[in-house]
Amino acid sequence: MSDIRVNIDPLKGFVNEKEVFSFREEIKEHVQSLMEKTGKGNDFLGWIDLPAEITDDFLDSLETAADSLAAISEIVVVTGIGGSYLGARAVIDALNKHFAALMPGENPLVLYAGHNIAEDYLSELLSLLDAKDYSIIVISKSGTTTEPAIAFRILKNHLEEKYGKEAAVARIIAITDKEKGALKELARKEGYQSFIVPDDVGGRYSVLTPVGLLPIATAGFNIQELVKGARKMREEFLANDELESNPVMLYAAARNALYRKGFSTEIMVSYLPNLFYLTEWWKQLYGESEGKENKGIFPAGVSFTTDLHSMGQYIQEGLRNIFETVISVENTRHELRIPEDELNADKLNYLAGRKIDEVNKMAGLGTRIAHVDGGVPNIIIEIPQISEYYLGQLIWFFEMGCALSGYILGVNPFDQPGVEAYKKNMFALLGKPGFEEETEAIQKRMDHD
Ligand code: PA5
Repeated sequence: MSDIRVNIDPLKGFVNEKEVFSFREEIKEHVQSLMEKTGKGNDFLGWIDLPAEITDDFLDSLETAADSLAAISEIVVVTGIGGSYLGARAVIDALNKHFAALMPGENPLVLYAGHNIAEDYLSELLSLLDAKDYSIIVISKSGTTTEPAIAFRILKNHLEEKYGKEAAVARIIAITDKEKGALKELARKEGYQSFIVPDDVGGRYSVLTPVGLLPIATAGFNIQELVKGARKMREEFLANDELESNPVMLYAAARNALYRKGFSTEIMVSYLPNLFYLTEWWKQLYGESEGKENKGIFPAGVSFTTDLHSMGQYIQEGLRNIFETVISVENTRHELRIPEDELNADKLNYLAGRKIDEVNKMAGLGTRIAHVDGGVPNIIIEIPQISEYYLGQLIWFFEMGCALSGYILGVNPFDQPGVEAYKKNMFALLGKPGFEEETEAIQKRMDHD
């Protein structure tokens, strides 16, 4: 049986099993076109076979590179945006100790840059790095994305001033296209160690390439186990074409059955704060893959019980177009029980001796019942615990679930044409050479407004 289970019982009253299972034949066809590479976006299907194709030697080479950075760094700054940082951050945050930044361990602390254009963020990062030994992993598949390019230019200058040009080279690893793009050219000129983002793997599907694996290894986590988990999920998926017992197919079918009934917003719910970035990664994966041609389920995220005190009211009683997908984690890493208290002023003695996680789980169950009663269907994704192995399974699970959902929707889940619109305007407003016409058009529009 699969380690990851999808429970659709809390959909009763919203969609029935027949409606979910009616996707059976369609999904089989989509699996076939994904495997035979005959569907939309078929140039970008390399992620499907990555878990089977990654060799131990390749993982060793990533671990060696990670060790070389770790040996000389207290901090490693992963510089990238979107698919070029979210997967790594999702896994690292999920596995890290919650207060890792304040509890230095054997491995460097991984920080992030290039995912915003905030002057104060970068300035304060530089101030921190003044006093720390650090290195950079710069990631950009295209090699031309503005946010990481600005951050890298600033960090590179800082690093070279701090260590000298030659020593700085040993502290930079670039992950980019095999031959094109500004980052590739820079890496070649400066002699940086480099890894390649495969041509047929898009940014948001690239966790199991050096894009995700190198930062994860640098943070001290076991990338062999991560890949092993993804491999297991892939093998199980391919060996089972029964929608009812194939968790990936069931998830894709259930969310699309809901979408067809008007549930157009999916909220990813977790009860563990260290899964915050897993949700962010999932949001990008599904948002960029499905949101096109005026279609697609809007992916949102909440962290409960925290957000029950901010978003709970809306979810319980707001517009009824939302459903929740809850990540339910069976086991905790630690054990902490609520103590008895002689005064019992807080009236909590009825919980004395019980695990904190039991309270969390009951909050989860209570919330599920309340939300279902309030008109919010729930899909539950159950995983045994947070570890490299299960996260690897979850990554491939969500990637394939996303590809199938995109095909069900009839869109290409592997492109993101809409992302270019803001870039074009930003370049025009900044006076980038080659954008003169756009600058003029914006000027006219602003004068008119
Ligand atoms: O999924 C995608 O393709 C995007 O989100 C990219 O990852 C993101 O825009 C960063 O692109 P790049 O790696 O080319 O800098």
